[in-house]
Amino acid sequence: MILSLSVLALPVCVLASVSYLRAEAIPWEPKNTTSVDQSVVHNGTYYLSDRGNSVVHVVDLFTGKTVADVNGFVGLQLNNGKPDNAISGPNGLIVLPDRNELYVGDGDGSVKVIDLRNNTIVASIATGSVYRADEFAYDAKRQLIVVTNPEETIPYVTIISAVGRQVLGNITFPGATNGIEQPAWSAFDGYTYVSIPETTANAGGEIDVIDVEQFKVLKVFPEPNCNAHGIVFGPNQQLLLGCSYDSIVRYGIAHTAIMDVSTGNITATIDGIAGADQVTYDPTRNLYYVTAYQNTADGTKNGAPDPKLAIIDAGTNTLVETITTDNVTAHSVAVDPMSNALIVPLVNSGITIFDFSNASSSAASPTPTASGAAREGILPVFFVAMAALATIMNL
Ligand SMILES: *[C@@H]1O[C@H](CO)[C@@H](O)[C@H](O)[C@H]1NC(C)=O
Ligand SMILES: *[C@@H]1O[C@H](CO)[C@@H](O)[C@H](O)[C@H]1NC(C)=O
Ligand SMILES: *[C@@H]1O[C@H](CO)[C@@H](O)[C@H](O)[C@H]1NC(C)=O
Ligand SMILES: *[C@@H]1O[C@H](CO)[C@@H](O)[C@H](O)[C@H]1NC(C)=O
Ligand SMILES: *[C@@H]1O[C@H](CO)[C@@H](O)[C@H](O)[C@H]1NC(C)=O
Ligand SMILES: *[C@@H]1O[C@H](CO)[C@@H](O)[C@H](O)[C@H]1NC(C)=O
Ligand SMILES: *[C@@H]1O[C@H](CO)[C@@H](O)[C@H](O)[C@H]1NC(C)=O
Repeated sequence: MILSLSVLALPVCVLASVSYLRAEAIPWEPKNTTSVDQSVVHNGTYYLSDRGNSVVHVVDLFTGKTVADVNGFVGLQLNNGKPDNAISGPNGLIVLPDRNELYVGDGDGSVKVIDLRNNTIVASIATGSVYRADEFAYDAKRQLIVVTNPEETIPYVTIISAVGRQVLGNITFPGATNGIEQPAWSAFDGYTYVSIPETTANAGGEIDVIDVEQFKVLKVFPEPNCNAHGIVFGPNQQLLLGCSYDSIVRYGIAHTAIMDVSTGNITATIDGIAGADQVTYDPTRNLYYVTAYQNTADGTKNGAPDPKLAIIDAGTNTLVETITTDNVTAHSVAVDPMSNALIVPLVNSGITIFDFSNASSSAASPTPTASGAAREGILPVFFVAMAALATIMNL
């Protein structure tokens, strides 16, 4: 047999009909890392910010091979021997599909522009902060980029013109008491929404609607004791709020929330899933993916660590699968809407690719690993083999 299957103890708990199986792990190179940030998939290619290696990894999802490591970032900076995220990079990132460019926040307040045709940094844009530039939204209609400067005493977002690669202005958030997290652009209404984890007015967090041309905040929607970090738009005007570890510590609440941004109303909560950072959405399968990497078993700060990747059906707002991860690097997630590959960086195994399959729909399936470097042609056989194995083992 061309495959050697090793059935590991790492459980994959399948709650409904969705089933992702681990297909492959790409080892950390050049050295193992404990500090990564955001990831994204574009045109069958995966991009991951890796502070430990000071690079953006570029992985071809068809061959499962690293095609480039983009250098030129400040890397992981230490303060008294401890990692200092406020001045480290690369951090958040976003693809500008219409320009074939990747914008990446760096630890010195600069935004690096990578040309995706040759995976090289072609511009560096200063945002006026000596601390990190972090997370992004792209207003594709106006070709304007929103990037966060979360470490300043008064945190702000910088608005950048994609065409001119120049700073146009900024919006400050004087009430923000714990930085700024993910901004997200809505193709539905054309507004940009910003996740503010904690403010003097809303201790449980708020979503601010901003005007990127007038440089002002238009509306504020309070969150339900969520202290969201990642946010992502699903269908229509549904915004998923990835509630952070702070909601567990402060309120003893572990939930993920769905907000209807036409009203600011919370239309659903998904219990048992919090401690999140990056979140994403696959429009092809209509699924959300939440990195609940600081989740705890009972939803309280004293509960045992229960790090997981949660997959939520965006049609019914119900949990359909969880995959056990780690509380170190697994705060990053990306999904390929073409192949449905799901990618999570795991501290012990590297950049780990999960493939969608109908092989199993029961509780607790094994996590297989495929041996050998070649990926092409193996996976279809692999899943047939897994389906057969699952049947034999009555999983
Ligand atoms: C990375 O970690 C793995 C698993 O612990 C180990 O086998 C490998 O040698 C490490 N690689 C490096 C470059 O340290
Ligand atoms: C998409 O990827 C393919 C294969 O890697 C490449 O040939 C093509 O130029 C890419 N398209 C864009 C728009 O980057
Ligand atoms: C990458 O492409 C851009 C333009 O598309 C060019 O300006 C730059 O010099 C190229 N860099 C390398 C290293 O080829
Ligand atoms: C933000 O915008 C204001 C008003 O235009 C400007 O005075 C200030 O210098 C800007 N801040 C930064 C860090 O560029
Ligand atoms: C939704 O929001 C509207 C407008 O703010 C409000 O009138 C309504 O009561 C809310 N509905 C629910 C179910 O909370
Ligand atoms: C992360 O998980 C490990 C167990 O896997 C635990 O010992 C450690 O305390 C956790 N760290 C945090 C910050 O939750
Ligand atoms: C999974 O099963 C559904 C329903 O039988 C089918 O429509 C879909 O194509 C299958 N997907 C895969 C990846 O096999």
